[in-house]
Amino acid sequence: MEKKTFYITTPIYYPSDKLHIGHSYCTVATDAFARYKRLTGYDVMFLTGTDEHGQKIEAKAQEAGVAPQEFVDRIVCGEKGVLDLWKLMNISNDRFIRTTDDYHVKSIQRIFRKMYDKGDIYKGKYVGKYCTPCESFWTESQLVDGKCPDCGRDVVDAEEEAYFFRLSKYAEPIRKLLTETDFLQPKSRVNEMVSNFIDPGLEDLCVSRTSFTWGIPVDFDEKHVVYVWVDALSNYITALGYENDKYDDYNKYWPAVHIVGKEIVRFHSIIWPAMLMSLGEPLPKHVYGHGWLVIDGGKMSKSKGNVVDPYMLAERYSVDALRFFLLRTFPFGSDGNFTNELLVNTINNDLANDLGNLLSRSTAMVEKYFGGVLPEAQVEGPEDAGLLSAAEGLRDRYEDAMEHFAPHKALDELFKVIQRANKYIDETAPWALAKDMEANGARLARVLYNLIEVCRVAGVLLKPFIPGSCEKLFAQIGAPEAVQVWESVDVWGKMPVGTKVAKGDALFPRIDVKKELEELENLAAAAKKAAAGPQVELEPFASEEVDFDTFCKSDFRAVKVKACEAVKKSDKLLRFTLDDGTGTDRQILSGIHKYYEPETLVGKTLLAIVNLPPRKMMGQESCGMLISAVHRVDGEEKLNLIMLDDAIPAGAKMC
Ligand code: MSP
Repeated sequence: MEKKTFYITTPIYYPSDKLHIGHSYCTVATDAFARYKRLTGYDVMFLTGTDEHGQKIEAKAQEAGVAPQEFVDRIVCGEKGVLDLWKLMNISNDRFIRTTDDYHVKSIQRIFRKMYDKGDIYKGKYVGKYCTPCESFWTESQLVDGKCPDCGRDVVDAEEEAYFFRLSKYAEPIRKLLTETDFLQPKSRVNEMVSNFIDPGLEDLCVSRTSFTWGIPVDFDEKHVVYVWVDALSNYITALGYENDKYDDYNKYWPAVHIVGKEIVRFHSIIWPAMLMSLGEPLPKHVYGHGWLVIDGGKMSKSKGNVVDPYMLAERYSVDALRFFLLRTFPFGSDGNFTNELLVNTINNDLANDLGNLLSRSTAMVEKYFGGVLPEAQVEGPEDAGLLSAAEGLRDRYEDAMEHFAPHKALDELFKVIQRANKYIDETAPWALAKDMEANGARLARVLYNLIEVCRVAGVLLKPFIPGSCEKLFAQIGAPEAVQVWESVDVWGKMPVGTKVAKGDALFPRIDVKKELEELENLAAAAKKAAAGPQVELEPFASEEVDFDTFCKSDFRAVKVKACEAVKKSDKLLRFTLDDGTGTDRQILSGIHKYYEPETLVGKTLLAIVNLPPRKMMGQESCGMLISAVHRVDGEEKLNLIMLDDAIPAGAKMC
């Protein structure tokens, strides 16, 4: 029988900067849903990618002094770029789309033309307000205190000839979609969309630009590029082969479930369905608008210097610890305040203590009391009922939570059972039973069997969250593949008796909270400093004036270095033999050995003042002084000799 299909997507991220923990949050959550669906038997297509066009990227590339394509290539494919990050985070996406991919570009041109041919796109004139960072056009009435309603930044006046999409035509069908179906989730987001955007009246949407070129040209009017959101939203279908020959998966997988951040729900729940209605295509199954990870109540941003680096955290605590923390701690639909303390405590409490202890104590006791293999003779006892009833129905509760996009609830249900199992250890006191193996051996075997069963069930249900660690867990309890599957979770006693149990390394080592928090703070301070760039300090400017005649008395000349060597017994001084154009060598001593190796200066054209009175240093005469530029970086003095163009002849006067 063919498997049922399931299609899930993340937003395609802007490669305008390195991605941070907020982007990882969305991708890890979507990955958990994709893995969960695979676990439950679906043929899953999981898509993520990058949204590479638009004015913001064009401007960023210009700032960096490279072409836009090169700029995005670096951020997407470069070291520690987007692709590397998803690999590190163990993201199981089946496909990765870049909006600069050829097939996507061609599809967008066809999609645009299709809507134009239908009469849903027409040419007009755009007059309004534009928010450059968000790439969003707004009407006066949509502004909040005269600023962009999404990001709160300034907007600018904009007027241009443009194509428009008849969004207004779809207002009523969209209202129905939002209010009469479960298309948009969580439900709390529906009211916001209806009252902020539909009730005030949906206006037609400007869908082309002529003010910049980094985008997909409208193929029948090439001075226009397609509005970046039309380009971006369509990725969800072009990546399946819609209007292109690259793939042939559209009929198989569409429609999708879109997981997106709350700030782009408007695009996904109003504009995107309207575009699909215009194209005559089925609408997405759901759009889920998740909350933001915030720091001190505010959104993370590079400029605030509060961006949390997923690379650093994954390398420090393991990818699985980070994945787990993100999905266990914050209710998916609401904002969550990220703190180091929460992170470290979640790892300690849930992973090192609850799960880690259960696994290590259970496997250690099977090894210690039964040589690693549980015997068949087992006796039930009065404590079992409490544990078994806690575990009963766990799979259904977990499934219900996952089907409602509530990974935090699914994990909560599971951890209640894990905690119950730890309590069961205290209740049954296996170490006491072990004192009389003859009398209690069979009871002890049952107790340990039940504990191993909880570990197994936890292993299966944790697969979507911490896949790498689950493999280690299964290896320790010796679970064959047949009992690592979804169907086996609901049945108690699937673990075959007689398999070899072997205690391994702790899945998640305990963290010393106090020490760790201090270190994280130091790291953050260092990162903030690095982001702010080096602190350059200049020498104070002279407060006293120098009269022109006095200044003119100074004789500055170009000099060429004929020889340069360190002065014996001095660790500072270099002796320069210079051609000053007079035909007689000039000797100057300079205390700059700390900054230059003498041999690197031979042949250079330098600047010297030559009418200072001669001075003796270390018994040698110095006739003049070489001119350098000095400044301090992070408190450290830097010195650079003034180097002149070698075309300047020795002796040329500087004036
Ligand atoms: N390119 C558009 C999306 C186009 S989809 C057709 C875009 N990109 S983005 O790089 O800004 O990423 C947006 C998504 O990243 C958010 O919708 C959200 O899922 C995730 N997050 C970015 N910062 C986040 C937090 N601070 N917290 C949680 N998620 C965050 O918008």
